[in-house]
Amino acid sequence: MLFLHDDKIQSMDELSLPGKTILVTGAARRIGRALALACARAGANIIIHYNESEEEAAELQKEIESLDRRAWMIQADLGKPASIEKLISQAIKAGPIYGLVNNAAIFESLTMQDATLADWERHLAVNLTAPFLLSQAFAKQVPANESGRIVNLLDWRALRPGADHFPYTVSKSALAAMTRSLAIALAPNITVNGLALGAILPPSDKPVNEKILKDIPAKRWGGPKEIADALIFLLAGSAYITGEIIQIDGGRHLI
Ligand SMILES: NC(=O)c1ccc[n+]([C@@H]2O[C@H](COP(=O)([O-])OP(=O)(O)OC[C@H]3O[C@@H](n4cnc5c(N)ncnc54)[C@H](OP(=O)(O)O)[C@@H]3O)[C@@H](O)[C@H]2O)c1
Repeated sequence: MLFLHDDKIQSMDELSLPGKTILVTGAARRIGRALALACARAGANIIIHYNESEEEAAELQKEIESLDRRAWMIQADLGKPASIEKLISQAIKAGPIYGLVNNAAIFESLTMQDATLADWERHLAVNLTAPFLLSQAFAKQVPANESGRIVNLLDWRALRPGADHFPYTVSKSALAAMTRSLAIALAPNITVNGLALGAILPPSDKPVNEKILKDIPAKRWGGPKEIADALIFLLAGSAYITGEIIQIDGGRHLI
């Protein structure tokens, strides 16, 4: 019988990722950047995936290297399956990848009535098909006797019916469903979990809408560090947690 003795269980302040390689998609800016840096600070080498933010990706690479970690930059449009294949074949050159963080996403304010077929397909391609293809390729390169971790960035909207940001919300709901199904499909050596975020960073192209605070029991925006702490917990903590989705939304899903 497999039994994990207490002496193998780490406390939160011991959680680290020494020498592990983590691929973070959409890592150049905003939350992805905070997640990549947190993993690097915990000891990991980082594959920085980016699409358009080359300059920011290069700055992040420098910052990670200044921590004495390795960092590789790989460009790919995750809306195109062929470039996902290229991303994976380049990424595995960095050595076995221990962790995959599916962070890149598109988030457009579209109602069910306004969304065109192209909008719908774009959201599903980047927010759902890309994490699927990346997870499939990631799982193939994890050696049978080793462990791996996948963490999907979700949204509090993914876990309840909602009509706003329609294609986005449906794509994230499907990603939540995939998180649980993958947890079964990839057990026992790969864990698959999700972080369902609430209001963390307002979209960069829109004014900050402080009215949403009335719907958040915590009465404040969350911080990228709060997401990063949860990510490190899922990447470096107990491998007995899989198929779990942690809501980091100040209680917004309860209202
Ligand atoms: N911000 C929040 O408060 C919040 C709330 C709930 C959930 N989330 C989730 O948390 C994650 C990070 O949020 P965020 O606000 O930091 O995200 P974001 O800024 O909207 O997007 C993250 C990255 O996704 C990449 N991306 C977009 N389209 C792509 C494509 N076709 N191919 C490849 N990469 C593409 C972009 O990379 P480039 O810049 O390199 O093009 C972008 O920097 C997302 O999954 C989001 O849904 C965020």
